[in-house]
Amino acid sequence: LQEGSLRPKNLREYIGQERNKEKLSVFIEAAKYRAEALDHVLLYGPPGLGKTTLSNIIANELGVNIRITSGPAIERPGDLAAILNTLRDKDVLFIDEIHRLSRAVEEVLYPAMEDYALDIIIGKGSEARSIRLQLPRFTLVGATTRAGLLTSPLRDRFGVMLQLDLYSERELHLIVRRSADILGIGIHDDAAWEIARRSRGTPRIVNRILRRVRDFAQVGGSDTIDIEIARYALKMLDIDDSGLDKADRRLLMAIAEKFDGGPVGVDTLAAATGEERGTIEDVIEPFLLQMGLINRTPRGRVITRNGYRYLNLDPQGQIAADV
Ligand code: ADE
Repeated sequence: LQEGSLRPKNLREYIGQERNKEKLSVFIEAAKYRAEALDHVLLYGPPGLGKTTLSNIIANELGVNIRITSGPAIERPGDLAAILNTLRDKDVLFIDEIHRLSRAVEEVLYPAMEDYALDIIIGKGSEARSIRLQLPRFTLVGATTRAGLLTSPLRDRFGVMLQLDLYSERELHLIVRRSADILGIGIHDDAAWEIARRSRGTPRIVNRILRRVRDFAQVGGSDTIDIEIARYALKMLDIDDSGLDKADRRLLMAIAEKFDGGPVGVDTLAAATGEERGTIEDVIEPFLLQMGLINRTPRGRVITRNGYRYLNLDPQGQIAADV
């Protein structure tokens, strides 16, 4: 069984994101009832929470085909026109990293989204004319890490906007159990909870850790994962007891030690840690915020008391001055 096979195929199998699932199932049912294409859907949130999975599920539940591409892959307006031309009635077009479309490509997308129309310019200079081609009705599903990365004309053309949040430990635990079943490996319940607790709220990480823990178990001659194997593997993977990985710890440590607890701007942190700004904003910060280890303020990021406690540091002057 390969990577994709752990992905749920329909809403019933999909664990977590309960509010989003409820909304989606109503919108899908209604579109089917009216025999229309589903309105365009924007999925936004940190990586690894199931945006691609959900877009496949949307197509599946609608009973239509899906065409999958990404913002950076569509270089010129003609590339998008070619893709739009392959769609059939009510198909889903999934564009990952949709915030990375060029301005020129976005311009082609607006009439396509609004009127299912493709405007083509023929001729040059004073001879130039625009002709309008009719496209099949389709559903654009766009994915991005933050809705704020989209231009407002693009954002305004989505009828459905769904924010994906980090998963609870309970949900991740269910995902571990489901995935272990599919992979055909046994797992003790305490080991399943341990993996869930240390997966940064992210199903993709849960499944990656589960596969690596399975490697350690099987090489050790066992087809059941117990708590010792799970802990040993997590240690080998440099995931600590709270689930922080090396990049998380490096960022937290930089705020505490290089910048006296903050506030510090994200560009400064990027330079100090060697991480990309986007990685800090989209991957590292959401988890540290959820864990209550840092806060965002108008002047930048600050470490919290819990953050200091986590690092075993004494906050001393830094927070004492604030209270
Ligand atoms: N595997 C990855 N994400 C999942 C989810 N949300 N539900 C069930 N299995 C998953």
